Amino acid sequence: MVSTFPNPASADLSRVRLAIRSIQPQLVEWRRRLHQKPELGFQEKLTAEFVSQKLQEWGIEHQTGIAQTGIVATITGEKSPSPRVLAIRADMDALPIQELNEVSYCSQHDGVMHACGHDGHTAIALGTAYYLQQHRQDFAGTVKIIFQPAEEGPGGAKPMIEAGVLKNPDVDAIIGLHLWNNLPLGTVGVRSGALMAAVELFDCKILGKGGHGAIPHQTVDSVVVAAQIVTALQTIVARNVNPIDSAVVTVGALHAGTTHNVIADTATMKGTIRYFNPAYQGFFSQRIEQIIAGICQSYGAKYDFKYTELYPPVINDATIAELVRSQAEEVIETPIGIVPECQTMGGEDMSFFLQEVPGCYFFLGSANPEKDLAYPHHHPRFDFDETALPMGVEIFVRCVEKFFDRG
Ligand code: NI
Repeated sequence: MVSTFPNPASADLSRVRLAIRSIQPQLVEWRRRLHQKPELGFQEKLTAEFVSQKLQEWGIEHQTGIAQTGIVATITGEKSPSPRVLAIRADMDALPIQELNEVSYCSQHDGVMHACGHDGHTAIALGTAYYLQQHRQDFAGTVKIIFQPAEEGPGGAKPMIEAGVLKNPDVDAIIGLHLWNNLPLGTVGVRSGALMAAVELFDCKILGKGGHGAIPHQTVDSVVVAAQIVTALQTIVARNVNPIDSAVVTVGALHAGTTHNVIADTATMKGTIRYFNPAYQGFFSQRIEQIIAGICQSYGAKYDFKYTELYPPVINDATIAELVRSQAEEVIETPIGIVPECQTMGGEDMSFFLQEVPGCYFFLGSANPEKDLAYPHHHPRFDFDETALPMGVEIFVRCVEKFFDRG
């Protein structure tokens, strides 16, 4: 077995690390308990009950039922008085996937699975709350720990912000992490600027005129129109987006027709759009509809078009990203373990928090192929190396102490 939790490098390092190491069995226990009872977005009832029960046990002040199932815990340090507030965000929801792992802590909820590691995020946030509550003398200021529902959709961050979780006391900065099987255990993906992409969706229905497959001149063939549209949409990234910027336009679903000799009167398509640069907000919806409208007009078809801006891009603040990078480096003890080139076109509603206050979202490497723990996120065999759990807690704790020390 690879030794993945590095040795303390100094007395100060060992103070935090030894305390966190001592709760490693609990972190694993909590994570496995949560893994066995996965719940979909806004249905995290058992999960929230479990979190609330633990917080209560440890005497941590918290509010439940925010944006249905969300929780906010508040811990105030006693090192010296400080008005500053740092928030830590964890998501709690699972996915509609039937787990295929054969492990003792396998999902007990049919068709629902923690296949993205949010069980681990919740356990790390709990571990952080526990540690901070026990070590209030080691930090100044207030820490708000946000347990958020429904990251996988329809999104719990926005309703939590609307419910006022960043106010009273007002949050100065926010940090959060995602366990990440695209990175090996012992690495941290952190960078300033864009980390994850904006997520937008479109639904389009082409309204043609059906008829006999052998008499096309009496019809408006929705299949031909849809085919032209799919092809033309490819030119948006190729010809309209600045080549220095990255973007994706994917048509993920296309449905039309029933059989060989019938011309389909309607065709439906669904697609997703991703980009990093916030300057493109509003651009894709306009350009896509322009292409659809132009092609439909030239073929005599009509269309219905619906566009949804789901999540904005995840943009990290340079100062807070540097705080996380420097503290993560202490935890993994090797600069090689910091991976700044960790951007992904995946999306996250952490972005809504980052639009409100400066902050940093980062990836905590959790893959370990030697233990067969390297399946991708959202795979029915997804699992991660639990050695990452105390590393996550330690990074959060160090960031808290450092954030308030800097005044
Ligand atoms: Ni996730």
